[in-house]
Amino acid sequence: MTATAPLGRLRLGVNIDHVATVRNARGGPYPDPLRAARLAEEAGADGITAHLREDRRHITDPDIEGLMQGLGLPLNLEMAATDEMQAIALRHRPHAVCIVPERREERTTEGGLEVARDENRLAHFIAPLREAGSRVSIFIAADRRQIEAAHRIGAPVVELHTGAYCEAHLEGDAAARDAELDRLRDMAAFAHEIGLEVHAGHGLTYDTVKPIAAIPEVMELNIGHFLIGEAIYVGLETAIRRMRVLMDEARAEAAD
Ligand code: PXP
Repeated sequence: MTATAPLGRLRLGVNIDHVATVRNARGGPYPDPLRAARLAEEAGADGITAHLREDRRHITDPDIEGLMQGLGLPLNLEMAATDEMQAIALRHRPHAVCIVPERREERTTEGGLEVARDENRLAHFIAPLREAGSRVSIFIAADRRQIEAAHRIGAPVVELHTGAYCEAHLEGDAAARDAELDRLRDMAAFAHEIGLEVHAGHGLTYDTVKPIAAIPEVMELNIGHFLIGEAIYVGLETAIRRMRVLMDEARAEAAD
């Protein structure tokens, strides 16, 4: 499949969930996710991503309130397709809403959303969010069926799950990593071809970001856990700036 998109500037959304994870470990007010979001802005992030989970294990309702009111950057609110979350999103009207699957017992968002089997409900679920002015994206595996279904329900954006690619890299399985990368490339091109904006994320690190950043149809990466972990050693601004440099390098190399 040939790439048809121009190599536009790649946006970086910084996910600050795990600043809240550390805060919640003690139940006090610090570290404050809003302060992290402001630092991310200074370091060149284009947006802030926060996942309000059903169990509120990290980001909480007051965090969303604070991010909506105290932040210059657009907020991308990740949430499950539940009535409770829909009401919260409609109240806040964030710049973007990313619909993710959520299972209470999982450690993180382990797979993409099963859109194809739940089209009718999801179409009705996202319609009011779009009418309220939020840009809706659907977090899915790099799978043609899911991309087509996301398109049919009227989502303007898909975020492709990079977790399997990153895991294969961590396990040292080069063949599996390259197969996942090929799938991500093909499916980004396919999604773009049918008119969807393409984002990507989950599990990305300094070691895995460049091949994803080089995919021309990908317009935005959302990165969290690695950056917050790296911030322990070098500070959040330095960690984000380094990620930004790698993304820009990958983009420039791909354009050559
Ligand atoms: N994109 C989506 C839709 C996610 O659910 C997550 C994890 O919350 C991320 C990106 C960021 O993943 P990570 O924290 O592994 O960088």
